[in-house]
Amino acid sequence: MSATAKRTVTVTLDGTNKSTSLPLLSGTAGADVFDIRKMYGDLGIFTYDPGYGATASCESKITYIDGDVGILEYRGYPIEQLAENSTFLEVCYLLLNGELPNPAQSAEFELGVMRHTMLHEQIRSFYNGFRRDAHPMAIMCGVVGALSAFYHDSLDINDPESRRISAFRLVAKLPTIAAWAYKYSIGQPFMYPRNDLTYAENFLYMVYGVPAEEYKVNPILSKAMDLIMILHADHEQNASTSTVRLAGSTGANPFACIAAGIASLWGPSHGGANEAVLKMLSEIGHVDNIPAFLADVKDKDNHTKLMGFGHRVYKNYDPRAKLIQKACHDVLAELGIKGDPLLDLAMELEKIALSDPYFIDRKLYPNVDFYSGIILKAMGFPTSMFTALFAVSRTVGWVSQWQELIEDPQQRIGRPRQIYTGPATRDYVPMSKRG
Ligand code: CMC
Repeated sequence: MSATAKRTVTVTLDGTNKSTSLPLLSGTAGADVFDIRKMYGDLGIFTYDPGYGATASCESKITYIDGDVGILEYRGYPIEQLAENSTFLEVCYLLLNGELPNPAQSAEFELGVMRHTMLHEQIRSFYNGFRRDAHPMAIMCGVVGALSAFYHDSLDINDPESRRISAFRLVAKLPTIAAWAYKYSIGQPFMYPRNDLTYAENFLYMVYGVPAEEYKVNPILSKAMDLIMILHADHEQNASTSTVRLAGSTGANPFACIAAGIASLWGPSHGGANEAVLKMLSEIGHVDNIPAFLADVKDKDNHTKLMGFGHRVYKNYDPRAKLIQKACHDVLAELGIKGDPLLDLAMELEKIALSDPYFIDRKLYPNVDFYSGIILKAMGFPTSMFTALFAVSRTVGWVSQWQELIEDPQQRIGRPRQIYTGPATRDYVPMSKRG
């Protein structure tokens, strides 16, 4: 179904006789939106919405969020049901194709993804160009962008088959690229992917395995990894997805678009938050220091944020945070980590923040990143890999949204306008006459 216009919104420009009637569009769920495309033509005015908090930038059939009640659905399926019953690769199929696969489609898809996990051997040499202490996200921005130099056969964005192969390549190769960034940082040999393992198992194997001995994947850890990937797979028009769409709207190839998404994800307000949560917990150090820390957070001049709290869309508990909180306890129990000081600190911080009027009034709840950092740390990932892992998981969402954009007949190059508040037109002053 496409958005339908059942009513209109009339906008009248005060002090003039100008007026326009704008279609009010309804989707399957969520708030109605009014279509302002003809407003400039009719009234000569634009709209102003920094941060796009009140603007729908596209029509999409992929992911639905109701932030007021804490609902997240992929293609109509609640995230809780997918987390409970599905696997990451099945979710990938769902996001890319719109429906859950039947057994034959599932087997063919998994084979298709796992067949593309290797990197071109020449890509190995890219890694040597980076410093050993390079952030994995810096490596990923570079290496993912560089993939376009290796796959000239799939760069025609108007060819559905090229788009299909690019999707497989991106989803399949991201774990290898991220795992190699980690191996490079610690000076261990790169592990080649193993296609007999599941997607999550293979990632853990490439991160933690070494050629010198057999690596047995712990099923509790691979299940947790699979869950983390499902929870991060897509999140409608967030900053990095919008970046991918904006880059895609210019006709840029998918590898370049996903590299742009990775760059956007890196920031601490977005995917970098899981890394920032761990840094914040270490800085707080002890539950006794929480009141002083929260006082800093509430001080407007201080610019300190409670990382892992708050969300542009969720004004209720992030449903992903609830799911990951439980997985976090399972993993810590499996690994025999009892009374982990950081987890204790996180739980206490959560408890205090949830009863504090500052956070209640602003509807600031824990988001997915509040717990993902703790669980990933328990699994042995260094903090610098947290956001890289988010990028691995989100790639399928970015690719699905990019495909939808390319297939959308309404799509045009993304080109926002502005309110210009700089100097009015003035004449050039020669250097000799400038005081
Ligand atoms: N700590 C303290 N105060 C906060 C926080 C926070 N984490 N988040 C928002 N506020 C305050 C903000 O200062 C403002 O206060 P006031 O009304 O007095 O000016 C009010 O709450 C409204 O916030 P906002 O800045 O208008 O919210 P936003 O929608 O622009 O920002 C956000 C959303 C996620 C960037 C922000 O909540 C934040 O920086 N959170 C911490 C970073 C984080 O955890 N990010 C991960 C998001 S979930 C994963 C993902 O999508 O990547």
